Amino acid sequence: MTGKLGTDPLPQTEIQGRLDRLLEQVQEAGKRQVGYPTNQDFDYSAVLPFLSHSLNNVGDPFHSSNYQSNTHAFEREVINRFADLLRINPDEAWGYVTSGGTEGNMYGLYLARELFPNAMFYFSEETHYSVLKNVRLLNARYIMIKRQESGEIDYDDLYDMVRVHRDVPAVIMATIGTTMRGGVDDLDRIREMLSDLAVTNSYIHADAALSGMILPFVDDPQPFGFDAGVDSVSVSGHKLIGAPLPCGVVLTKRSHVERVGRAIELVGVRDTTLSGSRSAMGPLMMWYALARNGDEGFRRLVAGMLDTAEYAVGQFNERGIPAWRHRNSVTVVFPRPPEDVIRKWQMAPEGEVAHIITMPHVTREMIDELVSNCAA
Ligand SMILES: Cc1ncc(COP(=O)(O)O)c(C=O)c1O
Repeated sequence: MTGKLGTDPLPQTEIQGRLDRLLEQVQEAGKRQVGYPTNQDFDYSAVLPFLSHSLNNVGDPFHSSNYQSNTHAFEREVINRFADLLRINPDEAWGYVTSGGTEGNMYGLYLARELFPNAMFYFSEETHYSVLKNVRLLNARYIMIKRQESGEIDYDDLYDMVRVHRDVPAVIMATIGTTMRGGVDDLDRIREMLSDLAVTNSYIHADAALSGMILPFVDDPQPFGFDAGVDSVSVSGHKLIGAPLPCGVVLTKRSHVERVGRAIELVGVRDTTLSGSRSAMGPLMMWYALARNGDEGFRRLVAGMLDTAEYAVGQFNERGIPAWRHRNSVTVVFPRPPEDVIRKWQMAPEGEVAHIITMPHVTREMIDELVSNCAA
């Protein structure tokens, strides 16, 4: 039901009624949410008192701000922690808490364009839909590369395209865990390709929206961090960590930002973030989750999610449904089920395939019911 706001205040009973109904709807929807990578298991009641204050993290978290009601100190701790997780010395890293993975990707691409204004941008057709919009916003030249069935970028197509344009810098947008199939673009192979083609000016951005919080906590991860040669990484906070508000982090090398930052300082501001006013709650909630879980907590959480994913593949396969997943991936891919099943479980299908993502709130009981719905 859609109501209507008018010129007069609504009666309090009507306001409360609308809020109660919305809450019921959200609680009900959360019980069968298996198609999107948003962890629903969290408790941020400890930070609720901060909602009574007008907090704002405007500006660069590593510089002082005149607006003192901020959580910059907590934000810096989050960034330093992520620097460790993403394998860069915190002293050499810079970053901030974004409004989500999309903003982090936008930031990485923006930085690449500032460093290499005449670059060609490359990304696979499996890349998150927002990337195409981002490169268009930046008015950057781009080539969309074919994808393999697995969801990984087609390396032969990438090689051919970079070879044709090797006279200009290459900006490669690699996905570490694609949205639909959980495919991980091979950073070692991409770097070898650039070196083989003698492309000296290049920039690799890694979109690790979900897997950026999985791979640091498994024993045998695919290459995913700065040690694999990336220049920037974006990770979502509301995905694996889980949060009631969208949030994320973007990390890059301090030296990159300093080159861009200098130009901005000419006009008197240290305006290094994409948004001006920024949420102070996102950094606080991420800090709280990192502080509460520690590495051991996340390792347990990730191991549990991978177990559930393996269980789901087994259950599907037992019923004759050819489900599969990548190594270290919680994205279970299977043939597109009927529309009523898609609606019931809030799946995000694409063409012939659908997926479920075994976030911490997804139980084996939910998998059993879902698999029997798919097999019916
Ligand atoms: C690979 C990938 N990149 C980027 C995004 C966008 O992230 P956000 O929703 O945090 O903006 C998603 C979201 O699902 C994603 O799967």
